[in-house]
Amino acid sequence: MKYKYLEKIDSTNSYCKENIDSLHDKTIVYTSNQTNGRGRFDRVWIDLGTENIYMSLVLKPSKELLPVYSNLTQYTALKLAQTFEKYKLTPQIKWPNDILINDKKISGILAETVIKNNELKGLVIGIGINLNANENDFLKIDKEVTSLNLEIKKEVDKQEFLKSFSKTFFEDYETFLENGFFYIKKEYEKRVNFIGKEITIQNINQTITGIVDGISNSGAIIIDNQEYLTGDIL
Ligand code: BTN
Repeated sequence: MKYKYLEKIDSTNSYCKENIDSLHDKTIVYTSNQTNGRGRFDRVWIDLGTENIYMSLVLKPSKELLPVYSNLTQYTALKLAQTFEKYKLTPQIKWPNDILINDKKISGILAETVIKNNELKGLVIGIGINLNANENDFLKIDKEVTSLNLEIKKEVDKQEFLKSFSKTFFEDYETFLENGFFYIKKEYEKRVNFIGKEITIQNINQTITGIVDGISNSGAIIIDNQEYLTGDIL
């Protein structure tokens, strides 16, 4: 594992995609100032100051794209949740991969792939974490959000969090790739909110409302006995 620190960059994900050939497998690229952070579904990820985390993991597990890679964001969400638990919090996973604390978003994940000439050059798992934010900064965001310092009522050491997360991430990573989502299903499902409740999800071509039965062996959300692999809970 390697760390690469950039003082300022438009987006750590864009940087990793542009420089994929020169970045090694298992490199963690992070910055203190992200000027054009991107989120899922073309949303923006707002910079809340230098003491928050804007990072991307560069992973090069093979030259071909395997189905298990699509579950890496869920694996990452579980590993983030487990890192927050070390601070004596009870995070929840909002399927597929947002992390909430007390129903407020604290972290988001944006995974991207770089494929050239039919060859997988690498996976880029972008992670934004509100680590040390100021409540006034949240006025810039139109959703309910929180940050670790506000939840534990003290400043958080960024390097310590990064070290703790990356250790947790890589200690299970190879086993996860070999076994797939089923390997983490129990631990993941335990932390998923909305199980047994009615939700609405939106995916590219439909809006579905129903009761969440659980998460399938492949990581799909099961709503009224139907499995949905992608989408966003509204
Ligand atoms: C989401 O919740 O929509 C995902 C947000 C992902 C934000 C992170 S911050 C570091 C990395 N670089 C980006 O441009 N985005 C991700």
